Amino acid sequence: MSAGTLTLSACGLIPPASRFASPTTAPVILTPLASVPVSLAVDLTAGRAMLPIFSGAETPVWRYQPSVREGSAESIQTLSNSYLGPIFRVKQGQRVQVRLMNDLPDPTIIHWHGLLIPEEMDGHPRYAIASGESFEYDFQVINRAGMYWFHPHPHQLTAPQVYYGLAGLFIVSDDEEAALGLPAGEYDLPLVIQDRTFDSQNEMVYLANGMMDSMIGFLGDTILVNGAPNAALDVKASAYRLRLLNGSNSRIYKFAWQDGTPMTVIATDGGLLEEPVTREYITLAPGERVELWADFSGRTGSEMRLVSLAFSGFDNGGGGMMGGGSNLPNGASFDILKLKVGEKGADGLSLPAHLSTIARHRAEDAVNLNNPRSFILAMQGMTHTINGSVFEMDSVAQNEIVQLGDLEVWEFANLEGGGVGEMSMMNMEMPHPMHIHGVRFQILRRELAQGNESMYQELSGGFVDNGWKDTVLVMPGEKVQMLVRFENYAGTFLYHCHNLEHEDAGMMRNYKIES
Ligand code: C2O
Ligand code: CU
Ligand code: CU
Repeated sequence: MSAGTLTLSACGLIPPASRFASPTTAPVILTPLASVPVSLAVDLTAGRAMLPIFSGAETPVWRYQPSVREGSAESIQTLSNSYLGPIFRVKQGQRVQVRLMNDLPDPTIIHWHGLLIPEEMDGHPRYAIASGESFEYDFQVINRAGMYWFHPHPHQLTAPQVYYGLAGLFIVSDDEEAALGLPAGEYDLPLVIQDRTFDSQNEMVYLANGMMDSMIGFLGDTILVNGAPNAALDVKASAYRLRLLNGSNSRIYKFAWQDGTPMTVIATDGGLLEEPVTREYITLAPGERVELWADFSGRTGSEMRLVSLAFSGFDNGGGGMMGGGSNLPNGASFDILKLKVGEKGADGLSLPAHLSTIARHRAEDAVNLNNPRSFILAMQGMTHTINGSVFEMDSVAQNEIVQLGDLEVWEFANLEGGGVGEMSMMNMEMPHPMHIHGVRFQILRRELAQGNESMYQELSGGFVDNGWKDTVLVMPGEKVQMLVRFENYAGTFLYHCHNLEHEDAGMMRNYKIES
């Protein structure tokens, strides 16, 4: 560690590497796909629709319309009057086939965010299909239980396609999870949080501020939960499993309960934690998921509100050139969801003290422990870059090649902060939620360059770093190291910023897993 940096791995969020004592995950032995029976076959049509989101004029949206060809209809849930969805509910080990049909005016392709599947199934933009064409997905679900999701990934069109409505959930269960008896059925609530801006005709407005929106990321002024504004739900006085996805293009949330009740976290991107952890608030960046245990027992007649707490904004506050023009800047406080607690429902459920066993990667097993594979996030001209480059469809740089089976330390260093890197004329203090396709990872450590503490400390208390992750927020001036094993499939995959405007502007690269 060099002088002038502040180590934050000592603050209790992250166990020191020496505690990663148990053996690392063995590579998954894959059965040939053809020998696995198909459990679910679905047609998904990506197309346009009109929905009554507000009273008055209907809103034009884009959405996936499912139809089950084979398998149980319960594996696919739809949300009524919502652009979001559908919700897949499958078991680990099942083989799933999806036929995507493109009824949109533009090319599209689906990426299954967090799923460990081969390159050809992963929705790289080079697989995008033109309007009128279709694409056949066929893969086995090898992931452990968790909430994964899917969304479009065509070249430079991901952000608008997600914005206009295309996104759904892919919920996986497994035996370990089933044995816990967590809240299920009506007590298992997926909640997708997004922001949009609507005009007086109730139509969605995207990128009204042009270049600034694309440098900062789009921030809508209306918060939607599962596609609904002013979201309110009647719940019973029982325990719930709330599965939160930040499905917004660029907004970061600081989730909390309005009355200060601590949040109990049971899972992150890649499924259950070993034990529940509590936080005063949860920081969730675009693409990240977190699952909460929320027990409303004894609260009959009261109202709980899921809110986003205020934090000092980045260079995207309410006004000025950096304003991004949003009436609801990043860091504003607002209500997200009202939960009206009714009569007592199912009872007898208590929070398990032990949830799961996570095989910890050991830092000393990494092939590059003392030489982390480093990715510099920085502003160059008007664009956010990774190691000075932007996305090119087929390019893989020399430092973007890894070997199948290897465990590596990856490091994302965000130089867009105070006191780090070269201050270019357009230097911004931008957080970047970095996502890697094709793998899951464990956070090893975080390190912050001096001068960035005040902003950092308003959000870092809400990081949950001790589970499996596929997306991690890298704050201005911060370096995040992770342990990642390329354990499943060789091929060319993406890694990128999940601020979707940054991604579309080129803050994305290929990396290649060689066998
Ligand atoms: Cu959810 Cu490549 O992204
Ligand atoms: Cu992904
Ligand atoms: Cu970014």
